[in-house]
Amino acid sequence: MSGRKRILVVHGPNLNLLGEREPDVYGELTLEVLNKQIRDYATSRNLDVVFFQSNHEGAVIDFLHENRKKADGLVINPGALTHYSYALRDAIAGIRIPAVEVHLSDIHAREAFRKISVIREVCIGQIGGLGTDSYLRGIDRLLSFFSEGA
Ligand code: DQA
Repeated sequence: MSGRKRILVVHGPNLNLLGEREPDVYGELTLEVLNKQIRDYATSRNLDVVFFQSNHEGAVIDFLHENRKKADGLVINPGALTHYSYALRDAIAGIRIPAVEVHLSDIHAREAFRKISVIREVCIGQIGGLGTDSYLRGIDRLLSFFSEGA
């Protein structure tokens, strides 16, 4: 792939309700505003970004399959799929695109079931607890992978 790099930013189940969903945990920002902040940052780093959100595991997997040859990197907040979706894990492993797992909240400081990520091992990094900045630091992680290959 030549020219500008393109990244996918994927939000899993329930992230469409950002802003009204448990604002004490996830903040007051809507998904639309979050995506704008991500796009502004990506653009400032000379990246094209394609967004996707779904509440359906299979739709997330289909999106990854369909875009596997059209993208250089993936930033994904899998929502609760993080904790149990071996199908999503296999999809990320299978598409051979560097992926960073991100979370708005700190999954290691919450309920026990959230501390487990079945996605982590197929990603080049896991970033959480920083709100919007988790996504921006996820982009930084991809950028260093692009420049260093590591
Ligand atoms: C989340 C954390 C998950 O445990 C939860 O199921 C979510 C959001 C986060 O961004 O902090 O839906 O991924």
